[in-house]
Amino acid sequence: MAEASILGIETSCDETAAAVVRSGERLLSNVVLSQIATHQPYGGVVPELASREHLRAIVPVVRRALKDAGQTYESLDAIAVTQGPGLAGALLVGISYAKALAFALEKPLVTVNHLEGHIHAVLLEERQKGNFNINFPLLALVVSGGHTHLFLAQQRGSGWVYENIGRTRDDAAGEAYDKVAKLLGLGYPGGPVIDALARYGNAHAVRFGPTQIKHYNRGVPKEKQTPYDFSFSGIKTAVLRYVETENMRSSIAARQQAIAGIAKPKAVDVLPLCDKKTLDLVASFQRAVVEDLVTKTLEAAQERDVQTLFITGGVAANSELREMFELQSAKVGLAVYFPSQKLSTDNAAMIAAAAYPKYLASDFAAPGFSAEASLALR
Ligand code: KG4
Ligand code: ZN
Repeated sequence: MAEASILGIETSCDETAAAVVRSGERLLSNVVLSQIATHQPYGGVVPELASREHLRAIVPVVRRALKDAGQTYESLDAIAVTQGPGLAGALLVGISYAKALAFALEKPLVTVNHLEGHIHAVLLEERQKGNFNINFPLLALVVSGGHTHLFLAQQRGSGWVYENIGRTRDDAAGEAYDKVAKLLGLGYPGGPVIDALARYGNAHAVRFGPTQIKHYNRGVPKEKQTPYDFSFSGIKTAVLRYVETENMRSSIAARQQAIAGIAKPKAVDVLPLCDKKTLDLVASFQRAVVEDLVTKTLEAAQERDVQTLFITGGVAANSELREMFELQSAKVGLAVYFPSQKLSTDNAAMIAAAAYPKYLASDFAAPGFSAEASLALR
């Protein structure tokens, strides 16, 4: 198989990222410039600000990735870029830059689906560890701030083909983390803070009923049922209702004020500002989300005779999610793999890795391609 050094570029959301990966299995560099500080005051990503920040960062980030990898523009074999899904204006920055580079250098350009990138982050790291023994069918849970998808994957030629067997009907799991954190005055992004705080609370203290988290098929004909779909907007509303009935508003406002004075608030800053009720609520929220993700994924895996699980995307960094998946998968003899913390959240190494099979198949981008904000994975 032809060896190749591929430069990956990723600008789909709030991280400007570039990386060089050798033949889909060796990480040579991985540069991620996070815009968290830019979006923090708004408690979520502001699309226009994201595009501007990408434009500012793209050239130095790519230069750094090449330097770290000991590569030059000339030594690259191909350039890969995220085509979607994501914020259109943010994607366009990476795409315009990648097109210009490929044109000027006369190198092939490969487009990558961001979701396939998250899946290939796991494969890249397993190959890097020397594990080439991944069995199919494989079920990938891609769970992040923008997505909660279950993809059944099969190998076809040098690449993979996908069937989307489950998706969120409303909010993504990471979005629910971010919204609940905002609601409770815990800062942004919510995932890492809630993950760290949850271990100090009682996960059984607040009961979230099944209607607040389950996607129901009641009354739907069997052939149209979607048992592996998710729904996370109900639990966010339930947290809001709990805040109201338990009169937590004033303590939340005090915490918001205290956090506003800290440049980059971390869990250690937030913990002393939380009472037992808040910690119990956070722990109960996390337990409900994690149980739902694990239960539906394992049910789907058993139903479809799956051999291997990949859990990936920003929320895959969650410690309780990892523990529960490891425990439950071991019980049914399923192999489960996660990316490292660094490759769980958005990065460009996953884009460069996912591009390699396409490079081998000479599946290059058409000159007229553009950003696809809702690009599907098949
Ligand atoms: O994959 P990612 O970087 O961006 C998207 O494609 O969305 O994921 C970011 C999301 C955010 O919602 C963040 O709150 C969540 O991942 N996240 C976590 C953790 N770390 C990041 N959620 C739960 N636990 C974590 N440890
Ligand atoms: Zn992502």
